Formats: sequence, C-alpha cells, structure tokens
Amino acid sequence: MARSFKTLDDIGDLTGKRVLVREDLNVPMADGKVSDDTRLRAAVPTVSELSDRGAIVLVLAHFGRPKVPSPEHSTAQLTQPFSDVLGRSVRYIDWEGGAEAAALLQPGDVALLENTRFFGGEEKNDPATVDRFAALGDLYVNDAFSAAHRAHASTEGLAHKLPAFAGRQMEAELDALEKALGAPEHPVAAVVGGAKVSTKLDVLKHLVGRVDHLIIGGGMANTFLAARGVDVGKSLAEHDLVPTAEAIFDAAEKANCTIHLPYDVVVSKEFAANPPSLRTCNVHEVAADEMILDVGPAATEALGDVLKTCRTLVWNGPLGAFETPPFDAATMALARTAAALTREGSLVSVAGGGDTVAALNQAGVSGDMTFVSTAGGAFLEWMEGKELPGVAALSA
Ligand code: 3PG
Repeated sequence: MARSFKTLDDIGDLTGKRVLVREDLNVPMADGKVSDDTRLRAAVPTVSELSDRGAIVLVLAHFGRPKVPSPEHSTAQLTQPFSDVLGRSVRYIDWEGGAEAAALLQPGDVALLENTRFFGGEEKNDPATVDRFAALGDLYVNDAFSAAHRAHASTEGLAHKLPAFAGRQMEAELDALEKALGAPEHPVAAVVGGAKVSTKLDVLKHLVGRVDHLIIGGGMANTFLAARGVDVGKSLAEHDLVPTAEAIFDAAEKANCTIHLPYDVVVSKEFAANPPSLRTCNVHEVAADEMILDVGPAATEALGDVLKTCRTLVWNGPLGAFETPPFDAATMALARTAAALTREGSLVSVAGGGDTVAALNQAGVSGDMTFVSTAGGAFLEWMEGKELPGVAALSA
C-alpha cells in the first residue's frame, strides 16, 4: 500500500539515537489502579522495537486533562503498569531535571516523561514548548492515533521540528482506516449507533456519500423513525432534528446509499434490566408510554443479511442500550455475524469508539474483527472525514 507517511522501517541505524515517542497512555483508573490497560499494551510493539534496535526511548504522553500540574495527573503512576506490560524497566523522568536525567540513559533504555499537559504550551502547540521537547530527542515517532485529533506540541508541532515517523500502532490504524473508508472494497456498510443524532450529525452526513448501506441504531434511530412519521412513544429522540434527519434521507437517496432503520423493536415502559413490561413489536405499534431500547430480532437478522452482501464494514456505536440486558441482544448478534464474516474472509471490519469496543468485548469478538481502534474522539473525527492534525503533520 502506498503511504504518505514514513514508518519505523524507514529509519536506519538507531543505536544510541534519542527517540521521542508520542504514545496515548490516557488509561482509565479506579482506586489508584489502571482499570483497562488496552492503551498500555497497544504501545508495546513500537517501544519494544525501538528499544531492541538500540534507541534511547523517551515516551511522551498526556494523562487526563490537568488544569495545573498535580500528582493525580502525573504519569509517574503509569510507570510501573507500563513497565509490567512492556516486560522491561521504565524510568520516570519529571520536567524539572528532565534534560539531565535523559542524558544519563543508555541505548535500549526506556523512560516515561512527565505529563506533556503540565506545560501550558502543550495544548497551544506553542513553539517554545515544541523546542523544549525537541531538545530531548533526535527523532520523533508518533504512535498515538487516538490523540491525533489534537494539534498539540507533542502530537503535531514536534513532527515539523524533528524527522518524523509513524509508530507501529499508528501505522496499523492508518492502514486499517484507509481500507475501511479511504479506498474500500464495495459494497461498504456502516453501522452508526449511540444515543443522540446531534453528536454524530457530521459522521452521518459524511458517510451517506461514501457507503452503500448506512445502518442506524441506538437512540439516534428514533429520530430517523420520527422523521419517517413513526410514533416512537416516550423513546429518546431529538424531535428538533427531524428536518436534519429528512435532509440526510434525501442526501442518501441521491448518493444511492440505503439507510436501514429497525422495523421491529424491543420496547419497555421503564429502562431497567429485564423489566416486566418488556416486549417486541412492530415499529408502528410502540405505545405512547413505551420506549424503544433495542432493535428487534427480525430486523437484526435482516441487518446480518445486509452484512453478508458487503465487503467492508465500519462500525461506531451500539444498536441498543447494550449495557442493560436484554437490550444488548441486537448489538451482540450483529457483532457475532460481523466477526464470523471477517473470519471467513468475506468482510473487512473496522470498529472504533469506547462503547463499540466495550460492546465487541462483551460479545467476545474483538479479536475477530480486522481492526478495532482504541480511539474515541479521533475515530469519530476520522469518520466525519476531517483531517487529523497529528496525521497530517506526519504526511507533510
Ligand atoms: C482520548 O482519551 O480520547 C485521548 O487520549 C485524547 O484525550 P483528550 O480528549 O483529553 O484530548
């Protein structure tokens, strides 16, 4: 695949070279412990390879959204967990004596620098902060796709200051995204779910011009059903966005994109696990005091049949209220169908976003998809067709 960016394969001898590696180690914590180490594990291939190739590896990362430097946002607490998944020792270096401490490192050593956001200039992409970071390294590797929607000093500015390369995680992500929407094999299906249309308007507008089948699920499907004249009872719906939904229907028709909405649904009078009022009905039979909480079994099967005709799938957002049983049924069933088609080799499947990853994990199929992105905001902006500053800078 022709790429517009350089990778670790384009770097020659790395022995003794100081490499600034931007990783996304922004992991969730509970009771002072990392509660999901996916992002730490995703950083391992690049950091290990650079270390094995004799580089002095200086990892740059943000952690949380600190207003001022504080221990709760210090990357110091990530050093041990990162070292554990890496299987080699990681030193923590704070910004005070950063340059001196970094100068003592030997080829193969790995150090994690303090939170980049402890500098006011990081988020402003301030040239002085870029210079301060750049002074520590000879080369820059950006491995943080999930932070690439931020034009910050460590995600964008550095790429203009030092020779810049994509890390293995960034490379895999950009290759997968190219296959899914850049130059995909058609027919292409997109699943877009989630609670509100308002958060994904730009995604929907972009996708109607690019995919053959747009499957809309979650609460946002209700707004589209309302636009089709369906009475959705007390379902979550953004009635003020009905005209927008109508415009999306029109755009889809012009672009030959089929929009799929549920025709049977799972409803309940209250939102709770296994509620007594649970029932499945035709979408035209929702009572005034009921709410739609999942796609029904007939529509789910039909969506599976759509996927069987497709070569590419891009998925963001669940079909129903998947965290509360039994409203996970449609998401689980369609995830399993997508996984089976991917295993058979008939479908390239790319999924991303926090809820989607959680749903795929719940279905036990994350490992079967072609690619699962750990990015949240960056994945969404990519689905909106936006240029991500961190990616653009690598291609400059
Ligand atoms: C994320 O968690 O999505 C990334 O690490 C970006 O974090 P941010 O939204 O605080 O920039």
